[in-house]
Amino acid sequence: MTQLEWIDSDSFSIGDCRFTIDVTPGPKRRLSTENNFTLVKTKRFLSLYDEIEEDLAGKKILELGIFEGGSLVFFDKRFRPSKLVGLDIREEPIPALDAYTAGRGDAVKVYYGTSQADQGALDKICQDDFDGQVDVVIDDASHLYDLTKASFEILFKWLAPGGTYIIEDWAWSYQVPTQERKHPWYKKTGMATLLFELIGDLAANNAIDFISIDRTMAIITKSKAPNSQLTFGKDRLRGRSSPEV
Ligand SMILES: C[S@@+](CC[C@H](N)C(=O)[O-])C[C@H]1O[C@@H](n2cnc3c(N)ncnc32)[C@H](O)[C@@H]1O
Repeated sequence: MTQLEWIDSDSFSIGDCRFTIDVTPGPKRRLSTENNFTLVKTKRFLSLYDEIEEDLAGKKILELGIFEGGSLVFFDKRFRPSKLVGLDIREEPIPALDAYTAGRGDAVKVYYGTSQADQGALDKICQDDFDGQVDVVIDDASHLYDLTKASFEILFKWLAPGGTYIIEDWAWSYQVPTQERKHPWYKKTGMATLLFELIGDLAANNAIDFISIDRTMAIITKSKAPNSQLTFGKDRLRGRSSPEV
């Protein structure tokens, strides 16, 4: 049973698990309780994930940034991956998630206290948990340019030919709250800068086959060319630099 049964406008169930949507910014979001997981995704995200079901169903999936575990359990229930690993920089465990994963044996694993830019940890997860190849990466972690790019560069080499790399919430630097000077991220480089670089790679190189960009997420498809390496198209900038936004 993988279909969503809507209970009210903010909650649904899949089989015996309930999901409560809470996209409140900041630390005031609801915490997960046993079999009722907090999910930080609007309906628009959920329908986009429906559209790419074929790329996720039964695959090996790595999620960066799990918050209260709702997205990890959602991916598990909705797409029945053959292997699912989630990591988060938060140190404190999520009891409801730990109870869930305990019932999933080796199929679902969580790493707390792990940064999305920790090369040693990511390489080890890809080698040991995914046997050297990941089909899908979903990055919903820091949303900061440097860390997001670091993950991309580390994980792209482990991504299967034709694999899918999803970057959620890339558009924040264009949105109203971060356009205000008082916002803590006002001066930070937005993730659109990374998307420009990925478009440069798509145009000038053979590592990426396709990029699909919606206002909520960017979906990057790795090419099937053997040993493809990222260049970000830097050798074609003719002395110019990429835009920073
Ligand atoms: C938007 S929340 C994730 C929401 C979750 N994916 C969902 O849809 O329910 C972002 C998470 O990323 C984590 N995070 C922030 N910086 C990180 C980093 N450098 N490495 C790993 N996780 C990070 C935060 O602790 C937080 O739990």
